[in-house]
Amino acid sequence: MNYQWYPGHMTKAKRMMQENISLIDLVIELVDARAPLSSRNPDIDELGKHKSRLILLNKSDLADPGLNQRWMSFFKEKGFYVLEVNAKTGQGLKAIQGMVREACKEKIERDRKRGIKNRPVRAIVVGIPNVGKSTFINSFAGKACTKTGNKPGVTKGKQWIRLNKELELLDTPGILWPKFESEEVGRKLAMIGSMNDEILQMTELAEALVTYLLSHYRRALLDRYQIEEDGQSYTAQEVMEAVCENRKCYKKGQEPDYEKAAALVIDDFRSGRIGQITLEEPV
Ligand code: G4P
Repeated sequence: MNYQWYPGHMTKAKRMMQENISLIDLVIELVDARAPLSSRNPDIDELGKHKSRLILLNKSDLADPGLNQRWMSFFKEKGFYVLEVNAKTGQGLKAIQGMVREACKEKIERDRKRGIKNRPVRAIVVGIPNVGKSTFINSFAGKACTKTGNKPGVTKGKQWIRLNKELELLDTPGILWPKFESEEVGRKLAMIGSMNDEILQMTELAEALVTYLLSHYRRALLDRYQIEEDGQSYTAQEVMEAVCENRKCYKKGQEPDYEKAAALVIDDFRSGRIGQITLEEPV
């Protein structure tokens, strides 16, 4: 597969992250709950060392609830603070404030001992494209926030969103470059929509998705496309043929339109219409 990130972009993104991270106390990292490892860039651990860390399993509404729990335990065991959220509806966001206090307790205590009062925790939101960073900032900061900085007469520079007297958020998220360490990771990123669809082979991608669903979420897949469960070991190709038939994806002359069917299956998956599905399990 061909990807749209190039070394130049990565260097630039990395430089920006380094600059921004030096200003903050807490890194709020968003991952996609449907592929929590593939949607992380491990370089964030190096960039964010010595900082407090909070991982948000976002889009948890689209992911398998049982696996959300297992991924929470996985990250907790690695020493991260972690929460399951839905940035779109705001579900789970209320718990963040308390967790920030907990994650940054050493800094808060240090400030208190030095007699520094009311210095809020400064946080940055980071993640690879499409994990929901902007949605999160909008829902979390809401309308109640006030922006500081970049106003006439106020210190020029970064825009901070003051959420309350304890917490400020950098208004622009840090974009992490997706990792391309294997074709499998690339494929999962493509399935969850973290890559530019124009460069993807949608029919191949849909077949790979269907193959995974057949082995992990068979019932949900067959139900969605009204394919009878008669103990057969369907192949991905047969499922795609059935999708063409049941959803009337035909070209002129009744020839099956596999591209149309592929786009349909991928869109159904991304929107959660096949069910709550997670593409990887913690090991
Ligand atoms: P980014 O800044 O990290 O690039 O991501 P952004 O906020 O633009 O979000 C990418 C897409 O993910 C958006 O959908 C957004 O609505 C959706 N999204 C974000 N958080 C959640 C979540 O927790 N659950 C669900 N189900 N979706 C979420 P879009 O297709 O670009 O727009 P729209 O269909 O919402 O209008």
